[in-house]
Amino acid sequence: MPTILPEPYRIKVVEPIKMTDRPYRERAIREAGFNTFLLRSQDVYIDLLTDSGTSAMSDNQWAGMMLGDEAYAGSVNFERLEAAVRDVYGWKYIVPTHQGRAAEHIMSQCLIKKGDFVPGNMYFTTTRLHQEKAGGTFVDVIVDEAHNPTSAFPFKGNVDMAKMQRLVDEAGADKIPYISLEGCVNMAGGQPFSMANLRELRAFCDKHKIAIMLDATRVCENAMFIKMREKGYENKSVKEIVREIGELSDGATMSSKKDHLVNIGGFLAMNDEKFFVDAKVLVVQYEGLHTYGGMAGRDMEAVARGIYEALEENHLRHRLSQAKYLGERLLEAGVPIVVPVGGHGVFIDAKRFLSHLDQDQFPAQALAAELYVEAGVRAMERGNVSAGRDPKTGQNRRPKLELVRLTLPRRVYTQSHLDVVADAAIALYKRRETIKGLKLVYEPYALRFFQARFEPLA
Ligand code: F0G
Repeated sequence: MPTILPEPYRIKVVEPIKMTDRPYRERAIREAGFNTFLLRSQDVYIDLLTDSGTSAMSDNQWAGMMLGDEAYAGSVNFERLEAAVRDVYGWKYIVPTHQGRAAEHIMSQCLIKKGDFVPGNMYFTTTRLHQEKAGGTFVDVIVDEAHNPTSAFPFKGNVDMAKMQRLVDEAGADKIPYISLEGCVNMAGGQPFSMANLRELRAFCDKHKIAIMLDATRVCENAMFIKMREKGYENKSVKEIVREIGELSDGATMSSKKDHLVNIGGFLAMNDEKFFVDAKVLVVQYEGLHTYGGMAGRDMEAVARGIYEALEENHLRHRLSQAKYLGERLLEAGVPIVVPVGGHGVFIDAKRFLSHLDQDQFPAQALAAELYVEAGVRAMERGNVSAGRDPKTGQNRRPKLELVRLTLPRRVYTQSHLDVVADAAIALYKRRETIKGLKLVYEPYALRFFQARFEPLA
């Protein structure tokens, strides 16, 4: 029987959530254009849209919020944030931003020239968009296993070194400013890279003078997986593993809204001084002064404290056990999901779940909408809608993975909530033939998944 490790915290504050009936939810999803991003939060019972900014902060973080130094320049909370990043990750310079995509924007503008190629272990939506806006082309260099939801490979976040070599041979190393290396790869199902792979990548990149910029958003969860799965790391602390990852990289973009357990915040970090100077010139144009980015002093304090809480191994073990529990309940009932279960949630394989639908009928989008109607559970499409259109051909990208992400906010939901989610997904699986596809009726030109609207096919 699947089990969850006991919570390493107790509950001090509660937030009521609304239960609704099916006719209510049918109306709500129609009004939202069958897009779970357009639902009102008030109409959602269990919100698994994202693990981003949705964590419960600790009493320690809330206490820190009262110590916000809201001076325009040189806030003491920035000093604490900078010290925490240096202490935990080891990077020399940090540029605060309001969240991850702002760091991606600034990094892309600083490092990418028109015609450059930017390899990555699978795309992320906002990351690739900023690379393209800076004139670069994203190149997927993740291992093939990552695109196969049934492969049980334990490090599906690894870089395929042969793909890196091919890119260098074809494009030339001087056209590759950096590789963006993501921890617990989101679009692959929250899958980690191994330390052995990162070491190999480091040697390769040193040889070809290519920088390694981490997408460190979920790197603490990646470190926990390394401790649990990689030989030689079982007796190292997560803190040591995170530090080792930091030292093998040249810097990072960070959305602190995930592992760092805050509702808003992020930063760009680097060891290169010229990059730092350039990034500071941009941050003051787009975000705010280089000692707050887009954050209030209190927000920076919460991030500084969250950086340490993110390393707590009981917290990480409990969190990963929640995802595993939900995944195992679904697997037991035959529901197709991505295996191994990743770090930040469970990803339902909508291609196999709704095998009667073509990918251009948006099976993952349809399934996410149906899950909401079934039980008031909000999930997120991570498939053909999220992948968008190829800028050259204008066609849907039709990615190999067509997934519905059941994302677990940190320290928020209990086992009974997860049972409601599992029961709903299993009920839908039993009547899967009754679920219809969708057609697009409104599509924004960029990051269409956030605002697109759909109608059911007849
Ligand atoms: N990188 C990764 C891997 C992410 O998952 C996200 C955000 C970002 C960068 C951008 O950070 O949101 O702070 O601007 N992911 C959220 C999600 C939106 O739901 O997966 P941001």
